Amino acid sequence: MPRLAINGGTKTIDRQLGKDWPVFGDIEREHLMEVLESGRWWRGGGDAETSKVTRFEQAFAQFQDAKFGVAITNGTQAIECALKAIGIKPGDEVIVPAATFVATATACILVNAIPIVVDIDPANYQINPEAVEDAITQRTVGIIPVHYGGYPCDMGAVLEIAERNGLWVIEDAAHSHGSLWNGQGCGSIGDIGSFSLQMGKTLTSGEGGICITNDEDLAKMLFSYHHIGRFEGRPFYEHHIVASNLRMTEWQGAVLLGGLTRLEEQAETRDRNARYFEDGLREIDGVSPIERDDWVTRWNFYFYHFKFHSEQFGGISRERFVEALGAEGLSVGSGHLHPIQKNPLFTERNWGPACFGDNEPPDYAAIDTPECQRILDEEGIALNHRLFLGGTEDMDLMLEAIRKIRDNVDELR
Ligand SMILES: Cc1ncc(COP(=O)(O)O)c(C=O)c1O
Repeated sequence: MPRLAINGGTKTIDRQLGKDWPVFGDIEREHLMEVLESGRWWRGGGDAETSKVTRFEQAFAQFQDAKFGVAITNGTQAIECALKAIGIKPGDEVIVPAATFVATATACILVNAIPIVVDIDPANYQINPEAVEDAITQRTVGIIPVHYGGYPCDMGAVLEIAERNGLWVIEDAAHSHGSLWNGQGCGSIGDIGSFSLQMGKTLTSGEGGICITNDEDLAKMLFSYHHIGRFEGRPFYEHHIVASNLRMTEWQGAVLLGGLTRLEEQAETRDRNARYFEDGLREIDGVSPIERDDWVTRWNFYFYHFKFHSEQFGGISRERFVEALGAEGLSVGSGHLHPIQKNPLFTERNWGPACFGDNEPPDYAAIDTPECQRILDEEGIALNHRLFLGGTEDMDLMLEAIRKIRDNVDELR
């Protein structure tokens, strides 16, 4: 009789784990009704202090340990806005990791800069500081490290390299709301931090984004670049720089103020459950957790990664393991491990109207990031953050499913 569900055995997990996403409640309902009935559906046209967007900007910046926040339409435009505010010029090179969502790099192209893609560290799946160092040229102006999956990357090394080479750092913190690097909120460590507030993220208004910074001058430029070139305190129809409208609506501010009241508790729950899950993973042959670096004070992940090792898991492929796990009732994925430079937009050089001054982008088809590719093909397993919002009994069930496959791996050969 087969035991594995993929062969007709009983499924290990036959109920929902964690929570439905997004989580919402009466706070959002009240805030949304307030906006509806106030007739003030955008942040203008009233006292700035009472705008839901303004209140969200202030509260979120403070939550992440930054002085200033500028809410933006989405996370892609938040990176674009940050690049403009920091003074990007055509042909400037910006170093980005291979494991991320494509927007980290395409935001650079959208402002006529050239993303230079580097490999990740196989220990923690984050941008590899040695690869960053090797990629620096005379044209390099900055680094966009990503706290990939919400895991705080090695900001100590990134900042040191940046300082030594006169580069700026924009943290792509789209996955790391509530994550702490040495006790400090991700996104508040470099010059600017950008966040996505899109539906899947751990704080969301369906779509949305925000930039945070501790630098007042950068905050002023972020404000202007998101507000059609206006300067705060100047007449409304006085425009100082060429800029788009990237303003967030009051509806989004209303929903985000609600979500923010739950973020601390959700971050603690995810981190606590993940640590429990990690202890369990260490007891099963052929899988292992990402061992947390000393600087990881809290990991509030967007997706949680663990490692699969075929040789110690009866020699089956990662693909087969994923199939078997799915049949046991645990659906897993690859996160954003597909090396971004392998997308057709890079290999076929579909830059659209972008112009790069005297410098053309490199031949991305020839850029290999072997660790990122190997981890995608053979090792990395991603779990959705919502699975970790329940109790430890959910962790036990996930571990039981993995253990069952390991114990009965002969059925898969
Ligand atoms: C790392 C990263 N950066 C930027 C973005 C872009 O955010 P948005 O989808 O809000 O434009 C995403 C979206 O998933 C992301 O994962």
